[in-house]
Amino acid sequence: MSSAGAALRIAIASKDHIRADGRTQRVIEKLDLSLAAGEAGAVVGPSGCGKSTLLRIVAGLDHAYDGKVEAPAQGRLGMVFQEPRLLPWRSVIDNLRIAAPHAAPQALYALLDELDLADHAGHFPGELSLGLARRAALARALAVEPELLLLDEPLVSLDTALARDLRDKIAALIDERRVTTLIVTHDLQEAIRLADRIFLLSPRPARVIATLEVETPRRAMNDAAAQALEQQARAMLARRRPAGSRSIASD
Ligand SMILES: Nc1ncnc2c1ncn2[C@@H]1O[C@H](COP(=O)(O)OP(=O)(O)OP(=O)(O)O)[C@@H](O)[C@H]1O
Ligand SMILES: [Mg+2]
Repeated sequence: MSSAGAALRIAIASKDHIRADGRTQRVIEKLDLSLAAGEAGAVVGPSGCGKSTLLRIVAGLDHAYDGKVEAPAQGRLGMVFQEPRLLPWRSVIDNLRIAAPHAAPQALYALLDELDLADHAGHFPGELSLGLARRAALARALAVEPELLLLDEPLVSLDTALARDLRDKIAALIDERRVTTLIVTHDLQEAIRLADRIFLLSPRPARVIATLEVETPRRAMNDAAAQALEQQARAMLARRRPAGSRSIASD
C-alpha cells in the first residue's frame, strides 16, 4: 500500500527515554509504517525493543519524540494496555459506561455478550481473572466504537487455550468491525492470525526491518498456512539481521 490515503501513518525519526541513571537511551529510530482504513497491522519485535513506547506515541500519550503520527482526523481511539487498566472501584459494565457514556445500554451488554462476559457485568475488576480482565478491557476499548484500535500484547501471560480463544475472538471482532487496528506483540503466530500486514521490528532502537503481507483471510487461516508464513518471516529476518543478534520470540 502506498502511504497516500492511509488511515494511520507513522514516521518516527527518533524517540529517546531518559534512564534512571540520567543517561539517554534511544528506543525508536527511523520507524515508518502505514495502514489503510480498516486494515489490521501487527508490530512484532523482541522484548524491550520499544513496542509499548511506539503504541503510547500513536495513542497521543507521549509527545516527546521527533517525527509525525497521522491518525484518523478527530478519530475515536480504543486502547488496550499491556496490563488491563480497568477502574477497580467500578463494575465491568460501569467501566464500559464511563468510557462510552453515549452508547446505548443494550449495545454495551451486546458487546459483553460477544466477549462471553455477560455473567460478569456486575463484577469488579479485582474479582476477574487476567483472561476476563483482558476481555473486559477489550470490550471497553470497543465500546467507544473506535476508528483506531490499539492493542498492546493482548494475549500475553494467558495460558495456551485461553490465548487461542481470545485470539479468535479478536480476529472475529476485527473482521466484523473493519476498524483500523494496530496490535503489538512479540509473538509471530499471534500476528499472523490477527493481522493483514506484519511489521517486523529490529531490537532496540526499533525500526521496521521487514513487512510481511498476510494474504490468507483471517477466517481461512489454518495451521499449515500460518506455519508457512512464520517460516517466510523468519527467513526475512535472518536475511536482514547481523549474525549473532537476538531473534524474535526467543526471549
Ligand atoms: N518511561 C520510561 N522511562 C525510561 N525508560 C523507559 C520508559 N518506558 C520504557 N523504557 C525503556 O525503553 C525500552 C523499550 O520499552 P518498551 O516498554 O517500549 O518495550 P516493549 O518492546 O514494549 O517491551 P515488552 O515486549 O517487554 O513489553 C526499554 O529498555 C524500557 O526499559
Ligand atoms: Mg511492551
